[in-house]
Amino acid sequence: MLSRMSRPRADVLSVITALFYASAAIASQDATDSFDVLDSVDPFIGTANGGHVFAGATLPFGMAKAVADTVGENQAGFAYDDTTVTGFSHMHDSGTGGSPSLGNFPIFAQPACPHDDINQCVWQQSDRAVAWLENDKSPIARPGYFGISLENGVHAEMTTTNRSALYRFTFEQSSNTSLSPVILVDLMDLPQSRTNGTAVVDRSTGRLSGNGTFSPSFGIGSYDLHFCVDFKGANLRDTGVWTKNRANFSQEFVSMLADGTNTPDTLSGGTFARFHAPQNNTILARVGVSFISVNQACENAEKEQPDFDFDGTVAVAEDAWRKKLNVVSIDAEGVSKDLQTVFWSGAYRAFISPQDYTGENPLWQSDEPYYDSYYCIWDSYRSIHPLLTMVDPVSQSLMMRSLVDIYRHEGYLPDCRMSLCKGFTQGGSNADVVLADAYLKKVPGIDWETAYEAVVKDAEVEPKNWNVEGRGGLQSWKSLGYIPFDDYDPYGVGTHTRSVSRTVEYAYNDFCIAEMAKGLGHSADHDKYVARSGNWDNVFKADQKSSINGVDTGFTGFLQPRYTNGTWGYQNPIFCSPLLNFTSCYLNPTGHETYEGSAWLYTFYAPHDMGALVQSLGGMESFTSRLQFFHESGLLYVGDEQSFLTVFQFHYSGRPALSAKYSHSYIPSQFNATVEGIAGNDDSGAMGSFVVLSMMGLWPVPGQDVYLITPPYFREVNITNGITGKVATIRNVNFDSNYESIYIQSVTWNGKPWTKNWVTHDFFTEGGVLELELGAIESKWGTSIEDLPPSLSDYHI
Ligand SMILES: *[C@@H]1O[C@H](CO)[C@@H](O)[C@H](O)[C@H]1NC(C)=O
Ligand SMILES: *[C@@H]1O[C@H](CO)[C@@H](O)[C@H](O)[C@H]1NC(C)=O
Ligand SMILES: *[C@@H]1O[C@H](CO)[C@@H](O)[C@H](O)[C@H]1NC(C)=O
Ligand SMILES: *[C@@H]1O[C@H](CO)[C@@H](O)[C@H](O)[C@H]1NC(C)=O
Ligand SMILES: *[C@@H]1O[C@H](CO)[C@@H](O)[C@H](O)[C@H]1NC(C)=O
Ligand SMILES: *[C@@H]1O[C@H](CO)[C@@H](O)[C@H](O)[C@H]1NC(C)=O
Ligand SMILES: *[C@@H]1O[C@H](CO)[C@@H](O)[C@H](O)[C@H]1NC(C)=O
Ligand SMILES: *[C@@H]1O[C@H](CO)[C@@H](O)[C@H](O)[C@H]1NC(C)=O
Ligand SMILES: *[C@@H]1O[C@H](CO)[C@@H](O)[C@H](O)[C@H]1NC(C)=O
Ligand SMILES: *[C@@H]1O[C@H](CO)[C@@H](O)[C@H](O)[C@H]1NC(C)=O
Repeated sequence: MLSRMSRPRADVLSVITALFYASAAIASQDATDSFDVLDSVDPFIGTANGGHVFAGATLPFGMAKAVADTVGENQAGFAYDDTTVTGFSHMHDSGTGGSPSLGNFPIFAQPACPHDDINQCVWQQSDRAVAWLENDKSPIARPGYFGISLENGVHAEMTTTNRSALYRFTFEQSSNTSLSPVILVDLMDLPQSRTNGTAVVDRSTGRLSGNGTFSPSFGIGSYDLHFCVDFKGANLRDTGVWTKNRANFSQEFVSMLADGTNTPDTLSGGTFARFHAPQNNTILARVGVSFISVNQACENAEKEQPDFDFDGTVAVAEDAWRKKLNVVSIDAEGVSKDLQTVFWSGAYRAFISPQDYTGENPLWQSDEPYYDSYYCIWDSYRSIHPLLTMVDPVSQSLMMRSLVDIYRHEGYLPDCRMSLCKGFTQGGSNADVVLADAYLKKVPGIDWETAYEAVVKDAEVEPKNWNVEGRGGLQSWKSLGYIPFDDYDPYGVGTHTRSVSRTVEYAYNDFCIAEMAKGLGHSADHDKYVARSGNWDNVFKADQKSSINGVDTGFTGFLQPRYTNGTWGYQNPIFCSPLLNFTSCYLNPTGHETYEGSAWLYTFYAPHDMGALVQSLGGMESFTSRLQFFHESGLLYVGDEQSFLTVFQFHYSGRPALSAKYSHSYIPSQFNATVEGIAGNDDSGAMGSFVVLSMMGLWPVPGQDVYLITPPYFREVNITNGITGKVATIRNVNFDSNYESIYIQSVTWNGKPWTKNWVTHDFFTEGGVLELELGAIESKWGTSIEDLPPSLSDYHI
């Protein structure tokens, strides 16, 4: 089950690879002519072993996301390690933790009912589970297309536009029953959260439509969603409704309230259409979705695919994906097909969410764009949004405008948001980091005065429910300069855990606000927030030691919980690392003081003042050996996003070569082209963007105009800026595809020597060439104090 699928496109790829070898000098020329980037995208990567990647059909940032829904770990509908399918649904999220997301109103097809008896067909969700087949046409996932064969004789294919899905069901003729396909819709969603719902069938056309009220998968409140299904390809035989496992031809309307038990059986119910045998064994089902109304769901489908043109819709989706991905161009000579697939598939996954719901938001009227599924910013601020700023600044601008508009209408920026609802905050108010990042990189079109008002509100005004927005413990933050272990907080309600990780995140959030304050001319604010950004030091216990299995690690000084009265508490520094109680720091009331990670991990988090942090940890050499120990001892888990920056933090202690070395230690061992080939949940493309940024050789320090330089995994990478049209080229001289020569010897930027180990974003907006000369041994390049990335405090030898 977990082995890699064989795919017909492999042959195409080897031809292309051969072409690269044949004409290295004009490789990229040939590449643009014959290379189809979509051949290097495998949407199945990360669909097994808890990756929760969405494998189905979608447009970039599209609202409609169609896939087969499996039983099991079905957060994104289909999981490669689940064996049965219960339906096909039209909206999903990708890579998320929490409950399964969306998956509303699944449809399900059967070739015929046994003995032509409608009640012998399968109806409720628990009865529908049917095995899917693995062969050369099943399952197949490509950008804009998903196909799968089921043991019940149905081959299901699907594609999408922005707000509708199109399914093509091909029925296998069985010898003993004549074909009379039944297609049902279920008023269900993946997390089985529905409270009420209504379904209607039109007897004359077979149109199935309806609505339901559901809960978000990682948040509070509820949302209403509407659907509209039309068919083509067979004559309608009869229609009806069904609940649990019984069908009824004489009804055309069913209204269902949850009975409080929320089991699949009691919640399952809907409408159906039965058909005469289709001419060519094929029926098309077109499903429109809308958060506004049934009418709008039908209109979305009618407008976006008037002709039920399956192949045409696939072609449009493919073109949209090529256009997104072709902004980046690589010279892949010598690089394995698998690594190329890892790269392009990672990029593909970074374009799945947030989703464009503009015109589909019933909560407020606005001319601004509305994006949803910021799921979650705690995950996405570190790699997804910085990647989008590099490769798709136009979308990044729309997303930032939408964030600011959410602030205007909800009163706070979100930390997490899905399905029109407020999601749970995991640490700080990290939308502050995303906005500062966009501000410093001059992402256009954003109302910065309102954005600034929003980030200051995060820092100053505690919300009533800080589980879903803003920050908790602000009174202590302002008076004590840290979040105490025993925080007394009468101002708002929230989960009183994560005092250590919230402290360091709030400190960095305040630094990001200070950067915006400076640019916008609020100099008093700038000074105030710079001062508060030093608060991480208040939970740094300088004499704290750490041992593993009773053996002292030799490193002194770790973050520790602290009481209101200033006395230190204690949490074993390795607690919640893979070496001790790894899963004890989640978002529940017993979740401890460091969220989804250890004090070891969070002790490295002061990205704005690395001069001071390095000094606190004993100076450059001591910092380097601690960071190496962290990577080699098993204390680090690269599947949680806080680990990303630690791969590249050797740059701050003057050892950029080690950043390159450790980047190669995780790719491909933890990020590869297998179905289980990502380390953790993809979290809406966080893991995908981690590999892409690592392999392009420029790691963005989120919230700063700083990219740390390491050699790309390719001979050359070009990135075309979506706003200025300028091309940024990162080129390796002495490129070695065995990755032994991965150490930078010297760099030129636009032909001039460049000794700093970082560059700024104008490299992308203005274009240019960064040329890296590589060698097999570490050099002096980028190691001097004046070459290190910016820090509030000075560095010391
Ligand atoms: C048709 O034949 C298959 C295989 O012999 C059997 O499993 C199935 O129950 C039959 N269906 C009907 C409706 O008789
Ligand atoms: C989908 O929506 C995007 C805006 O989010 C738009 O640019 C694109 O043209 C739409 N695609 C299609 C195929 O309609
Ligand atoms: C859901 O559909 C029913 C039946 O058409 C309708 O009465 C009801 O108002 C709809 N609910 C919403 C929230 O649109
Ligand atoms: C479900 O019921 C709630 C409460 O009565 C109502 O607000 C909501 O509109 C209903 N949803 C649908 C889809 O009818
Ligand atoms: C089969 O039927 C579908 C639906 O009517 C139609 O789109 C398709 O072109 C037909 N295919 C062939 C080969 O006739
Ligand atoms: C089907 O629905 C009709 C109308 O509500 C009802 O009279 C009849 O008893 C139902 N039949 C079955 C088999 O439930
Ligand atoms: C990058 O762009 C330059 C200039 O347009 C071009 O000469 C080179 O072939 C491109 N390289 C790749 C890998 O696309
Ligand atoms: C500080 O508070 C903690 C927790 O209430 C308590 O255990 C400790 O004894 C106090 N320390 C002092 C010096 O009062
Ligand atoms: C740590 O893990 C052990 C073994 O799984 C468990 O018994 C213990 O309760 C956990 N401790 C905490 C504080 O979560
Ligand atoms: C691929 O990545 C997964 C997830 O990180 C890892 O468990 C597996 O060992 C890797 N496989 C190979 C062949 O490196």
